[in-house]
Amino acid sequence: MQDDLARCKAAVTACFETVFAPLGSLPVEEGMRYALNGGKRLRAFLVMEGAALYGVSAKTSVWAAASIEALHAYSLVHDDLPCMDDDDLRRGQPTVHKRWDEATAVLVGDALQTLSFDLLTRPEFDVSSGVRVELMRTLAQSSGVQGMVLGQALDIAAETAATPLDLAEITLLQNKKTGALIEWSACAGPRMAEADTAPLAAYAKALGLAFQIQDDILDVEGDVTKTGKAVGKDADAGKATFVSLLGLDAAKARAQDLVDEACAALSPFGTRAEPLRDVARFVISRET
Ligand code: IPE
Ligand code: IPE
Ligand code: MG
Ligand code: MG
Ligand code: MG
Repeated sequence: MQDDLARCKAAVTACFETVFAPLGSLPVEEGMRYALNGGKRLRAFLVMEGAALYGVSAKTSVWAAASIEALHAYSLVHDDLPCMDDDDLRRGQPTVHKRWDEATAVLVGDALQTLSFDLLTRPEFDVSSGVRVELMRTLAQSSGVQGMVLGQALDIAAETAATPLDLAEITLLQNKKTGALIEWSACAGPRMAEADTAPLAAYAKALGLAFQIQDDILDVEGDVTKTGKAVGKDADAGKATFVSLLGLDAAKARAQDLVDEACAALSPFGTRAEPLRDVARFVISRET
């Protein structure tokens, strides 16, 4: 899996290079490139592995992979702003508003979001018009007012909620803030192939929750030199997480159950889906 992940990272980096090279040097561009750097490229990997399962070439799927990484990078730049989580470190570097200023960070996030949709319109992204529109429509829904943005709003509201959120409320919050983009990533392959998205959607629903639980566990137990972002902040900020509700041990058990569930959803693909099973196991063992 690590080899596949490295190949995916290189392909996405090359794709961004071809997009930025003709621009010359623009005011917000440096911040965009900075924000796109690093990262595990997990969402890109889900796009490209899902696509491979449905016979879609890497040359094509890399555009959808770059698109979701741009959207994700935007969400992180805005998530780190002082009015949101107020973080100084991301991917081992100062956050965009620390390296530049808040106005730049807002604009970098805005431009990364529109870049994400721009990438799906590129002629090199060789899909039919119908598929293109469907990818853009579902990306808009996954990231917008019913998707990631809703999750972020629930996350911020929970910090000052009069009573702690219950399991159903935390699950909804996490499904939206993290799960929605992970689900879009896993479903992009079947969508490009005009196939049924249900098996990979079931996989991604469980994976997305496991992923966020591990993120919350790393905030408690992680090491800043490995995560590349501050740790030990969620409890003080009053974040609603599986760890805050269930405690560490139960949260870990829940994450393991979710990974088992994610792997079980891949049974229709047999051994061909092994990289997606590997990545699910990686999601809860990772330290980064
Ligand atoms: C961090 O996502 C934000 C969450 C949704 C929890 P990642 O852990 O995938 O961040 P990068 O892309 O590897 O930096
Ligand atoms: C962020 O969740 C989710 C999005 C950016 C949509 P977190 O706030 O937990 O992510 P980190 O811990 O800052 O990476
Ligand atoms: Mg946050
Ligand atoms: Mg944050
Ligand atoms: Mg976190």
